[in-house]
Amino acid sequence: MPAHSESLAESLERLGLRSPVIQAPMAGGGDTAALVAAVNEAGGLGFVGAAYLTDAQIAERARDIRGRTALPFGVNLFAPTPAPAPSPALAEALARVAPFHAELGLPAPEAPAYAEDGFDRRFAALLDSGAAFYSVTFGLPPADTVAAAKAHGLRVLGTATTVAEAVALERVGVDAVIAQGSEAGGHRGSFIGDPAANLIGTMALVPQVVDAVGVPVIASGGIMDGRGIAAALALGAAAVQMGTVFLTCDEAGVPDAHKDAILAAREDQTRLTRAFSGRPARGIVNRFMATVEDPRAPDAVLPFPMQNTLTRPLRTAAGKAGRAEFLSLWAGQGLGLARRRPAAGLVADLLRGTEATLGRLAR
Ligand SMILES: Cc1cc2nc3c(=O)[nH]c(=O)nc-3n(C[C@H](O)[C@H](O)[C@H](O)COP(=O)(O)O)c2cc1C
Repeated sequence: MPAHSESLAESLERLGLRSPVIQAPMAGGGDTAALVAAVNEAGGLGFVGAAYLTDAQIAERARDIRGRTALPFGVNLFAPTPAPAPSPALAEALARVAPFHAELGLPAPEAPAYAEDGFDRRFAALLDSGAAFYSVTFGLPPADTVAAAKAHGLRVLGTATTVAEAVALERVGVDAVIAQGSEAGGHRGSFIGDPAANLIGTMALVPQVVDAVGVPVIASGGIMDGRGIAAALALGAAAVQMGTVFLTCDEAGVPDAHKDAILAAREDQTRLTRAFSGRPARGIVNRFMATVEDPRAPDAVLPFPMQNTLTRPLRTAAGKAGRAEFLSLWAGQGLGLARRRPAAGLVADLLRGTEATLGRLAR
């Protein structure tokens, strides 16, 4: 049966979800074991962004989660990344970052070395982790991993920013497509066509993806409360994947400077940038972004993952020093609705708010 003729309860059951609320994987430290477990215990699905973790760290995080909750959780990876060609922007990229190193007392930045992306080792750790969900962004999950994950009883999810990407994901056998609108915080999952053209908002993207694929669709981007969840369900989504709203939870692992920036920012203060990693991602505009991607100066951004490696020492030092002007302040356009609170209360409010909105509409 195509997903759009199923009831919501049927789609949730098919996906193995207890409610429509999924806490987005947030590679880089936001999604601690405490956050994942609190989300699970409150009725949502917690996810770990494992793209920057080693296989040993994935095993350790999973153990930590399993010690806190017996409920299912997910692990997310970036699709395998080919080695980028040497960039003509290298000298300019180093020069643009160097003054910030000096300001934080770090040694001068060095040309980043390409490290093999370790996808196979991470995937093996994911299979052994006890996770019930495997999701991928930045591309298609390799076909052998889809088969292996399914053979282990995991459900497989892939991220699409266009209808074409959603159809390609369905063809490799994913169990559901995450339709990521341009409002979303963090990296864009785009992998077909021009990333600058793939900026379709959640409201426009979700129903077009729902009509194009037979698997359930998970809406992502700019959803911050029960009103947004009910709207996503009305568009035909079976569930939602929310990132920004979880970042200001007490259990989220990002620096306080990041949480404070989200709580202080307005909805018009985020922008897509390649300055931190080399791939477009949405974050709150700060001095680093404005300087590195100065539209009046020559290109100074290396391709992913080289720019990410280049800027890591600065971001790590800035996190310790509480210097928001050098942090990747990932956040989506709904950030004005974020509040500081424990995750359990947030998930309870999300579920209650969804019911209340659906009830109001039914009356
Ligand atoms: C700090 C942060 C890190 C993220 N890291 C990942 C990631 O590792 N993998 C992934 O698939 N999506 C990642 N995302 C994107 C989310 O999956 C999701 O699409 C996005 O948060 C939805 O938009 P919202 O932030 O407006 O809720 C990240 C988002 C944020 C805010």
